[in-house]
Amino acid sequence: MRATDGLDDLVHIDDSRGVFKVSRRSFTDPRVFEAERKAIFDKCWLYIGHESEVEKRGQFHLRSAGGRELIFNRDLNGKVNAFLNACPHRGARLCTARDGSVRTFFCYYHGWTFTTDGALHILPDREVFPETFNDDGSANMVAVPRLEHYRGLYFVCFDKDAVSLSDYLGAAKPYLDLCLDQGEAGMEVVEGTHDYASSANWKLLSENSVDGNHLSSLHSTYLDYVKTVNPPPVQPQDGASKPTPGYQRDLGNGHTVAEYAVPWGRVAGKWWPAWGEETKPEIEAAYQRLAKRVGAEKADRIANYSRNLLIFPNLAIVDGTGLTLRTIEPSATDYMKVKAYALAEKGESETARRLRLSAFVEFLGPGGLATPDDVDALQQCQKSYDMSAGMPLWNDLSKGSLQAKDWPFDHEGTVRCFWREWGRRIHAHKP
Ligand code: FES
Ligand SMILES: [Fe+2]
Repeated sequence: MRATDGLDDLVHIDDSRGVFKVSRRSFTDPRVFEAERKAIFDKCWLYIGHESEVEKRGQFHLRSAGGRELIFNRDLNGKVNAFLNACPHRGARLCTARDGSVRTFFCYYHGWTFTTDGALHILPDREVFPETFNDDGSANMVAVPRLEHYRGLYFVCFDKDAVSLSDYLGAAKPYLDLCLDQGEAGMEVVEGTHDYASSANWKLLSENSVDGNHLSSLHSTYLDYVKTVNPPPVQPQDGASKPTPGYQRDLGNGHTVAEYAVPWGRVAGKWWPAWGEETKPEIEAAYQRLAKRVGAEKADRIANYSRNLLIFPNLAIVDGTGLTLRTIEPSATDYMKVKAYALAEKGESETARRLRLSAFVEFLGPGGLATPDDVDALQQCQKSYDMSAGMPLWNDLSKGSLQAKDWPFDHEGTVRCFWREWGRRIHAHKP
């Protein structure tokens, strides 16, 4: 017990009694914020982008991970990189445009210029520098210690000794596959990003992204709309065997998933009336192609089920009507920045793309039918935490905790998976 560093006893678990509580100080205490930067964001693999976003040589995007601004690019030799967006000379931001295509990175402050693989290329007044200048590469752009990808999803890690990305993702990989297998010709991120912020702690959105427990209360408006468009029950299209209608599962390392049969449409191959009769043949044909390619059982699972997947700590994949990748970046104890990208089948029909993008905006967009509800609820939580300073208050996450694994969809198993890992890392951290 370290009584003075403020990091002890933030997550209180007693499995034998089904007790699972999180101190509200986890969302407000600057010492916790500082500790999670080191214990979590400097140690875990963090998603930065998809290969399709840097398909062309020279292409780059600014991304942010663990409080650092990065240039995610494909260099002119074809290699994908992630560099700190800071000039090695005196630290000016190298790129100020959020994306684009370049042949070199030019620092406008004193004119140092770098090739797209990060090497110092033009050093003004080279002759007044020692002959040996940059022999050690310290005047090149700074690459992140680790950059790896899983089937085109790129992650960085600031811990050079971390396990491989593949090992880190572990049991989450088959669920990522259910998302990535949706495109016959592969997947791509559609241009255009949801980019918003919320006055709440980042963990509130990580846990919310996989929390089935809030659906019926917070999103009742949307669910009422779904019921009017498409009354239950939902039948599988081909009679293939179905997994349970909905469950939550621990995938290890803090990763977790909620998977459930959906009453709404799925661009991957489940039509619903809200899309109009005219779209039915196309969506059904998409399902048939999917079944032919991956088999009836997997096609049923891909098309008729949604998945909310959390890759610890801050990548949420919402495989709903379409597919959304959401990153959650902490800025302060009470402020987070959120980005969401639509991941889509490459070469899909115009109808499919239209339906997908409508869903991207209508349900999960910052002005959609769900996200504003979530953002408001999270901000109200944060407000209450901030306005109960010094009170020893705890969040209760025990719904369904007497069951060891595979919780029903509306329990709090996924949320506990997140917090168990968060607590493990924070409690082990030595400031
Ligand atoms: S800070 Fe970039 S060239 Fe000086
Ligand atoms: Fe929600």
